[in-house]
Amino acid sequence: MQLITGKAKIAAVLGWPIEHSRSPLLHNFWLQRYQIDGAYIPLAVKSEDFKSVIKGMMAAGFKGCNVTIPHKEAAYQCCDYVDETAKKMGSVNTLWFTQDGKIHGTSTDGAGFVASLNDSGVNVSGKKILVLGAGGAARSVAYCLQRDSAQVTITNRTLKRAEQLVQDLGEGDILEWQSWNQELGKFDVLVNTTSLGMEGKEDFQFDLKNASPDLIVTDIVYVPRVTPLLAAAQLKGLKTVEGLGMLLHQARLGFTQWFGVDPKVDSELTEFVANSLKK
Ligand SMILES: NC(=O)c1ccc[n+]([C@@H]2O[C@H](COP(=O)([O-])OP(=O)(O)OC[C@H]3O[C@@H](n4cnc5c(N)ncnc54)[C@H](OP(=O)(O)O)[C@@H]3O)[C@@H](O)[C@H]2O)c1
Repeated sequence: MQLITGKAKIAAVLGWPIEHSRSPLLHNFWLQRYQIDGAYIPLAVKSEDFKSVIKGMMAAGFKGCNVTIPHKEAAYQCCDYVDETAKKMGSVNTLWFTQDGKIHGTSTDGAGFVASLNDSGVNVSGKKILVLGAGGAARSVAYCLQRDSAQVTITNRTLKRAEQLVQDLGEGDILEWQSWNQELGKFDVLVNTTSLGMEGKEDFQFDLKNASPDLIVTDIVYVPRVTPLLAAAQLKGLKTVEGLGMLLHQARLGFTQWFGVDPKVDSELTEFVANSLKK
């Protein structure tokens, strides 16, 4: 077991509630693996306490933190420096504190998604990609796909939200929610960023009958691991990429900033986190 000394580097994840977060498991797995003198802890923080907790963490020498619902926008407001991705999101999920007392922030979800595709041998550059959904995750996924030269089309149950997203991104096409499955043959990659298919949500049948045999199907929902969309795609013999990879890859940047090692996402880590999701 890795022991924590007085020189330990400390990071945290802040949310309300926070018990469901898999981030402590994931980061402490890496701390063990790389024998780093450090810890990563969950902090249940109410919205009204968020700013003072960040101040306190900085005063106590924390290296930084992840933030999750409901703090992503408040964290953005706290930052002294944010990158282009965070500006497009208007929110951040990763903060790191520098020696000069400044707060840096970014949003790592979209980059984590693209890294997960790359890991599965999918290069998004030049690909025609249909994104289902226009929520927070879609925003970050679509932005990073476009940054990596993919041609993005958005479809969403609420059309206005899709229109707003494409306007904010400055590029991209829109398809009506009722007709995306008829147009599916035109796309190289399909990604579900809606919560459809998530455990505990309503059943939904994804219609893939117009998919080309080369369509790559991905889902960012990761509970269950094989979502209804991925199951339908596998039944047709299509290549699929699961959402767990995104969760693991989005954590790498924070870990690198706080603990000084770019950690590896591999099958041992994937199985470790997947097993925790079954409990
Ligand atoms: N793998 C990862 O690391 C990762 C990271 C972030 C999020 N996620 C997952 O991604 C999913 C979305 O998260 P989010 O933060 O983007 O949520 P969000 O901002 O609330 O957006 C939800 C999206 O789902 C759509 N939707 C919900 N119910 C629907 C229904 N019955 N029919 C059609 N569309 C429906 C919404 O459409 P409307 O606009 O019409 O309401 C919207 O596009 C969640 O399941 C979350 O767990 C995974």
